[in-house]
Amino acid sequence: MDVKTAILNRRSIRKFQNKPIDGAQLTQLVDLARFHATGGNVQPLSYAIVSKDPMKKQIFDLLAWAAYLPDYTCTEEFQPAAYIVLLRNEITTRACMYDLGAASTTIMLAAQEMGIASCALAAFDPKKLKPVLGLEEHLHPDLVIALGYAAHESSAAPFEGNVKYYQDEDGNFHVPKKALEDVLVYTDAD
Ligand SMILES: Cc1cc2nc3c(=O)[nH]c(=O)nc-3n(C[C@H](O)[C@H](O)[C@H](O)COP(=O)(O)O)c2cc1C
Repeated sequence: MDVKTAILNRRSIRKFQNKPIDGAQLTQLVDLARFHATGGNVQPLSYAIVSKDPMKKQIFDLLAWAAYLPDYTCTEEFQPAAYIVLLRNEITTRACMYDLGAASTTIMLAAQEMGIASCALAAFDPKKLKPVLGLEEHLHPDLVIALGYAAHESSAAPFEGNVKYYQDEDGNFHVPKKALEDVLVYTDAD
């Protein structure tokens, strides 16, 4: 899969098949994340891979899914196969939010190439997640990447003034994406 295809096809998936992810692939995702661009080359992030219970279920219980769909639930049956938790090192916080974006995108696009679906999640209480992971004091869980094999589809839809994603009767997601002319406010490219 080329990068362009991975970018175009990656959509957030919120229900997963009951199928484990190969451990070597999970490790490779973090190994690839080491190479993302990082302000000042500070590399402020660390990572935790969780693919086994009881920790996996404990993380699942802390996550909130699809805020735009109040009735939406990801039941235990459809829970992710694994998580990569992005950890902010408080000793090196400079530009860390940018690094979280770069790292999570790197992981999700690399997963896409492996045929593994993903969803970034920030809707959890870090104070509750930290003891679950048994982290050293200076490491703060800021973002969770849920990973697994997709149990629904999701596709980009035309943006018609509303950014809210929606589900169809089959449970598949449709995600409005702004058009090029909506976002490109200046160009001198021929
Ligand atoms: C930083 C960040 C935090 C997110 N947090 C959540 C979350 O807590 N729960 C959730 O269901 N989706 C979450 N998402 C997924 C977004 O809702 C999703 O990326 C957005 O709707 C666009 O859809 P797409 O990823 O399919 O293109 C998050 C995405 C990002 C980048």
